[in-house]
Amino acid sequence: MLKPDFKEAKKRTKKEIKVLKNEYVIPEKIKNVGINKKYYIKTYGCQMNEHDSEMISAILEDLKYTKTEDYTCADLIILNTCAIRENAHNKTFGMLGRIKHLKQTKPNLMVGLAGCMSQEESVVNKIISDYKWMDFVFGTHNIHKLPQILKQAIESKQLEVNVLSNEGNVIEGIPSKRASKYKAWVNIMYGCDKFCTYCIVPYTRGKQRSRMKDDIINEINDLIKQGYKEVTLLGQNVNAYGKDFKNISYNMKDLLLDVAKTKIERIRFVTSHPWDFTDEMIDVIAKYDNICNYIHLPVQSGSNRILKLMGRRYTKESYIELYNKIKDKLGENCSITTDIIVGFPGETDDDFNETLKLVNECKFDSAYTFIYSPREGTPAAKMKDDVSLEVKQKRLYQLNEVINKYAKMKNDKLVGKTVPVLLEDVSEKSKSMLAGYTDTMKLVNVKADKKYLGKIVNVKITDAKTWSLDGEINE
Ligand code: 5AD
Ligand code: SF4
Repeated sequence: MLKPDFKEAKKRTKKEIKVLKNEYVIPEKIKNVGINKKYYIKTYGCQMNEHDSEMISAILEDLKYTKTEDYTCADLIILNTCAIRENAHNKTFGMLGRIKHLKQTKPNLMVGLAGCMSQEESVVNKIISDYKWMDFVFGTHNIHKLPQILKQAIESKQLEVNVLSNEGNVIEGIPSKRASKYKAWVNIMYGCDKFCTYCIVPYTRGKQRSRMKDDIINEINDLIKQGYKEVTLLGQNVNAYGKDFKNISYNMKDLLLDVAKTKIERIRFVTSHPWDFTDEMIDVIAKYDNICNYIHLPVQSGSNRILKLMGRRYTKESYIELYNKIKDKLGENCSITTDIIVGFPGETDDDFNETLKLVNECKFDSAYTFIYSPREGTPAAKMKDDVSLEVKQKRLYQLNEVINKYAKMKNDKLVGKTVPVLLEDVSEKSKSMLAGYTDTMKLVNVKADKKYLGKIVNVKITDAKTWSLDGEINE
């Protein structure tokens, strides 16, 4: 049994990060284990988890399992979990309750836990004591070992816990079964070294490890050959890309430049931390048309006092300066979105008003807003949390009102304009419509024939709502 250990997970030594290329191996004994069997994956949380689930799917299909969207029909269920807030935990445990019932009627059903919750000591202890009926737990560092872990669980018929808390390496060569045929996630780095005081990610995802440039570019060239139109470069803090290289001088600006030169039609990247956002990066984004005019730039709070307690390493003033610089260089039409936390320990009305002031100044295109959730093991969890839930909820509501006002205002400005949209799916609104995104990441529902799927087409915007636009093809 290998259990996670937060003390180990917190360590950041100077040890060189290894790139391991031959770690994904399927043991002969289980290479056909999934024949006539179905798997179901439930993914919680961020894009990183979405992409991890694409890898888990590919591994299971290498083992000959086929996918089902209905967990009650599955022979193998994996929950790929998120640890960022308490409600993510609650959703997982709620689902495990339903699966437990299912397993009572299907004793051969195998059930596994993956993702960030698996990296939490307290969660794994709870699984070991109260969820013995589960079959396996693996973490974010050893997805490639899933065949071996599954084999062990099948052979031992006991709960197999296999979670690493070392700083981690970069593992290449894990297959991926991508959910979309047109846009793809591409990891450029793993982990995070920022240790914002509220955040669990540096513990669950480990030390910052950047992938080598050639591995990233080869992956993107391969995606282009397969017909992909868009890549999103993924990392917890993508601007810090390359900072962990020992003898190589190559950073996010260099990578963006090289990715732009592959000529893939659209490039996005998430998530950016304002600390590492350089002028050179902005210049490259401005210069290349295939780098989307869309920046997700989490601010978290508009109060300098709270930003300091959060360990964010910038002030409200320096954030606004960066914001204005991006707008100046990319043009007024570029879109900037953000993340904001309300109710951080000790947040006063004055602090919250500073956040509202910042939102009124920046007028974000949209924002993800959250009530602070204490995460065990983080420094903020030890701070006195004296803001009542009622106040936190009131602040969230008030903040959302302002955010929504600006989101609608930005969308209204697009009515009558013609913008390129990558049509990627049938619209959730109506089967006779397609849906896609502008390069500024606005969702558009378009009256269009299915022949346009996977194409970037000019769309005239006819109507604006808070969270989406309507449009028609304008060729
Ligand atoms: N409580 C609430 N929100 C959080 N986030 C990260 N940790 C917490 C927490 N403990 C939010 C931040 C981050 C986004 C992904 O989730 O805003 O940018
Ligand atoms: Fe968490 Fe992002 Fe801060 Fe890293 S930079 S600790 S992932 S909020």
